Parts: sequence; C-alpha cells; structure tokens
Amino acid sequence: MSITMEELRKQFHEQLQQANAADAFEELRVRYLGKKGEVTGLLKQMGAIAPEMRKDYGAKVNALKEEVESSIKKRIEEAHAKELEMKIAATERYDLSLPSTLSEGSYHPITLVQREVEQIFASMGFTIEDYDEIVDDYHCFEALNIPKHHPARDMQDTYYLSNGQLLKTHTSAAQNAIMKKYGAPLRAIFPGRCFRNESTDACHENTFFQMEGIMIDENISISNLIYFMKTMLSEVFQRDVKVRLRPGFFPFVEPGFELDISCAICGGKGCPSCKNSGWLELCPCGMIHPNVLKAGGIDTDKYTGFAFGLGLTRLAMMKYGIKDIRDLNSGNLKSLDQFVK
Ligand code: PHE
Repeated sequence: MSITMEELRKQFHEQLQQANAADAFEELRVRYLGKKGEVTGLLKQMGAIAPEMRKDYGAKVNALKEEVESSIKKRIEEAHAKELEMKIAATERYDLSLPSTLSEGSYHPITLVQREVEQIFASMGFTIEDYDEIVDDYHCFEALNIPKHHPARDMQDTYYLSNGQLLKTHTSAAQNAIMKKYGAPLRAIFPGRCFRNESTDACHENTFFQMEGIMIDENISISNLIYFMKTMLSEVFQRDVKVRLRPGFFPFVEPGFELDISCAICGGKGCPSCKNSGWLELCPCGMIHPNVLKAGGIDTDKYTGFAFGLGLTRLAMMKYGIKDIRDLNSGNLKSLDQFVK
C-alpha cells in the first residue's frame, strides 16, 4: 500500500509541476482531495486495513493529504505573485534604458502632470499662482502657526542661507502672501519646487515638487475639500477614484487629514505597491487654521477654507510608474519621449 502512496505522491508532484493556471490547480485539488479524489480514496480504504496497521496507515495518508493541500496552495500563491508582477510591469511605461527617438526636447514628466492638474483646477475657477523658492522664516513657518522652536519644524529640516532666508520646505509657504494679495473669497493653486534636508533613496529626494491649493469662502467645509480632490484625481487617473481621509497633524490646518486614494494597480484589493492595504497615501490636507487665516488678513467670523498640499512628484511617479524618485532630478531622462502625449 505504501508503494501506491509513494507513486501517488510522485504522480501528484509531476502533475502540479505542469499545472500553471488557476483552473489547472483546482482540477488537481479535485482529482486528489475531492470526494472521489485519489487521496480521499486512500482514506476510505482505512476499514480494509488490518487494525494494527491502521494508525500508521492513517498517519501516512493524512501527511500526504496535507502535503497535497499545502503544495497546491503554495503554487497558487506563486502564480498570484507572478501575475501581479506582470501586471505591475505592464503598467510601467517608463524604461530608462530605451534610447531616445526625439530629435528635439520634450516636457519633463512633472511639468506634464503639473499642467494637467493646473488645467483641471483652472476649469473649476482656481487661479494659478507662482511663488519664490527662497523665502523667509515668517512665510515658511510662523505665518503657518508654526512658531520658532515648535517640534513640527523637525519634520521640515531645510537649507538656510547666510542671510537668514531659507529654501522653502513646502508650497504652504505661499499661503500668507496669496491671502494678502487677493483676500477672500479665494480659490488658488500654487505649484512649486520644495527642498528638505533629507537623505535620499528611491522614495526621498531633497528637491521635489508640490502643488498647494486653497479655497476660502463662506460656508466652506470638509465636503467641499473631498469633492474637489475627488474630481481632480478622477480626471488625472481617468477613472472614478475612491478617496478616504485619515487624521493627520499639521499646525496650519484644523482638523488635518491625510488623503488616501484607492490603489490603481490592484483596484483596492491589496498588492505590494500599496503595502497590501488597498490605499495609497497621496495628499495631506485640512481646514485652514483660524490663526493662519487671521495672519493672511481674512475675516474668520465670515470665512472658512480648506488647503491641500498635493505631492506633484509623487503623482508623476504614480502616473508614469517611475520607481526611483532620483531619476526625476538626475538629468538622465534619456527617454523623455516616453512622456510626450
Ligand atoms: N505643507 C504640508 C507638507 O508639505 C502639506 C499640507 C498642505 C498639509 C496643506 C495640509 C494642508 O507637509
């Protein structure tokens, strides 16, 4: 009997080796473990086994059963992982090793994404503002409810110039000037290059792009914020994007949130790109803190507003499947033509 079992095990592994699709795995499972399956058949023969051999026989059949089960499960998992890898590879249109076929230059992927988002917000009545890269402490921090020595400054370590000015760490640095320039009601976006003293890796750079947006008017609430973000992201990704808000702390918003979008690669089921959560963190945002509105000369009895700080670099990486953030500043974008629309 044990020879038959050995043969069966061998036969199973040979067949499993050849199977490579979901239905083939299921077929094997039924063939061996189903009601009329081969291993089930061995279990059914138990009664015919001499009583003193039964224990040993039962243990062997059960071990075989477990082996069949776990081997099929392992192959299914391997096949899933492979399928996912192929899917991710297929969404990647970006390959640095391709030679360029362009005879002239083209736009940088961040410029392309920036323009696209600008157009969407312009169509919703937002003005597009430009702002300095070198700013002072007041605009970058103090006007944003981040006094000197506030621990929140630790998150945004930056480069100071000898005259006391600094390279702006976030586009929020323009909020105060823009509020003072236009007053309320106000709808504005302001893209810009930001700098932080970071050690760099595939996900971190000391120079990156953000796009800030603010909307100030009577009766502005979180629902307005969600509506504008959802509309903009659905346009950018050309599909209905689900969003969710989690609490997030920034001294210049109250309440503050982190906005996540459903992962485009797995459709929200969970995959390596979204660390199996089904969500990707995209954009911090919140209701503008009254202290910030006041510093900008806005009447807080009459007006409220929301602000968001969209990571443009991050958005470009997601949109074009760029895995290493450093490629964007490397001057080595040999294949810019891959982004030409
Ligand atoms: N300026 C913040 C940052 O860069 C992001 C942010 C912008 C958060 C607007 C809330 C509102 O970390």
